[in-house]
Amino acid sequence: MYRSDTIYGNHLPELEETMDFVLRRIDAIRKQLAGSSQQGDPVDHVLSRIKTDASMREKCRRKGIPENEHSALEICQDAIGIRIICPFLNDVYTIANALKAQPDFESVEEKDYIRHVKPNGYRSLHIIMRIHGLFVEFQIRTISMDTWAALEHLMTYKQNISGNEKLIVSELKRCADELASTDVSMQTIRDMITAEGDGGEPPAEK
Ligand code: GTP
Ligand code: MG
Repeated sequence: MYRSDTIYGNHLPELEETMDFVLRRIDAIRKQLAGSSQQGDPVDHVLSRIKTDASMREKCRRKGIPENEHSALEICQDAIGIRIICPFLNDVYTIANALKAQPDFESVEEKDYIRHVKPNGYRSLHIIMRIHGLFVEFQIRTISMDTWAALEHLMTYKQNISGNEKLIVSELKRCADELASTDVSMQTIRDMITAEGDGGEPPAEK
């Protein structure tokens, strides 16, 4: 397929360049935070993707909008998707605040599915930003939230759940809530360890 045959027209190189630019910026933010705070690197790993032509077209059809460049770049705002997986709960907000503090990153929309959990149990902080004139969707979540989202996607995506639907939905929700409660406990343990580090004996004088 020629590049210009995609729904992105001739904008694919720009999308790729902007995605790489954002990934490099995240690296720089991580280095800076890891060096300057007691909490260390707030990021476990980062995933990124340009939404495929097929799935962007499918999304346009689902939304009932024309399958063209304008829809793909301006109406759908997730052509560039960056997922940031953090070890601990507080790290999610640390990295989100750092992104929002970048002068050339303009926040457009934020959905906090951690404070406002989706009815199925999905948790994640979603932020859409305009960067270099393009929209970028960030999904920031803990390792636990990511584990749940991955498994839930595997089990429910394009699957026809029939018979046991109520039980399956409520069991998935229960797992999400258990993982969320573990995230809170892990954060507490981590804070205890950090506080202990703070209050430790000063190094012995030579
Ligand atoms: P779109 O038109 O699809 O962008 O709808 P929206 O803007 O309301 O979507 P939202 O920001 O809520 O979520 C977009 C993305 O978040 C999805 O493409 C998934 O990657 C992820 N997501 C949202 N809800 C769920 C969920 O219940 N389970 C899983 N596994 N992922 C989810
Ligand atoms: Mg969306």
